[in-house]
Amino acid sequence: MSERIAIIGSNMHDLVTYVDRMPAPGETVEAPSFEMGFGGKGANQAVAAARLGADVMMVTRVGDDVFGPATLKNLADNGIDTTHCRAVPGTPSGVAPIFVDPTGENSILIVTGANAILSPADVDAAAEDLRRCGLILLQLEVPLETVYRAVAFASEHGIRSILNPAPASRALDPGRLAGLDFFCPNESELALLTGMPTEDEYQIAAAARSLIARGIRQVVVTLGSRGARLVTADAVRAIPPVAVTAVDTTGAGDAFIGSFACFLAQGAEPEAALTRAALYAADSITRRGTQKSYASAADFARFETRHAPNTPP
Ligand code: RIB
Ligand code: NA
Repeated sequence: MSERIAIIGSNMHDLVTYVDRMPAPGETVEAPSFEMGFGGKGANQAVAAARLGADVMMVTRVGDDVFGPATLKNLADNGIDTTHCRAVPGTPSGVAPIFVDPTGENSILIVTGANAILSPADVDAAAEDLRRCGLILLQLEVPLETVYRAVAFASEHGIRSILNPAPASRALDPGRLAGLDFFCPNESELALLTGMPTEDEYQIAAAARSLIARGIRQVVVTLGSRGARLVTADAVRAIPPVAVTAVDTTGAGDAFIGSFACFLAQGAEPEAALTRAALYAADSITRRGTQKSYASAADFARFETRHAPNTPP
């Protein structure tokens, strides 16, 4: 039986424009296509885990506009428990205008809207249901005080916790993350948060260990096309990259974190869970959109068989 996962975090409506090139200031440029989709780092990670078969609940806030009910329905349609998902009167939903270039690279603006209202009191209000979870998953599109409260709650109740510190925030205080099980930045987020260089393997390990010295248990550093590193107090394990042709990289980081949480909840060891998560994220890059591009467990099993022939089924 897999443990229940709680995501305390954001949702956004993604407004994605596929561009040949970005306009310069004052310039108008025609773009080939536009698509809307469900996004937000919290919701993306929740949907990735749920599509893979995890038992997921989400704590999130939507606005009282057209996007709010659609987002709640989307979470429920993906099998996510929405008991602690609510609309905030008089507040817009979070939206994300996104631009994707012909190489699949993305640029994202976020307008957090109702996500800015998710408070530490909302974590407390969900406490009874959170206590039944085995894993709490967090990102930084909601107030930092809410993240700190959730980390403290998880640590007090012996619940494993994962924080993906995205988007990067200089204001995040690693001193308030003591007891966090997995801190999962990319290399630039790691550099920003530690004030240390992350240009080679030694520097990455040293920066990660400076966080371990402050009470975080393990650090997972994602390195784009170079894969990822799992850094613990006494070891560094390399998670191999998966080569695919990129169509749209938007939300690939969330596919990685959400699937990592799912595999951990299903009982995998961290290194094995991360290796499979790298495959899940790579698969999502081969299709357009964020949540739209996340595979079901059955589709992922086929991708995994093709790309990792040595992985037992
Ligand atoms: O990580 C990708 C996500 O970032 C998008 O879905 C967008 O909504 C922003 O939150
Ligand atoms: Na994608």
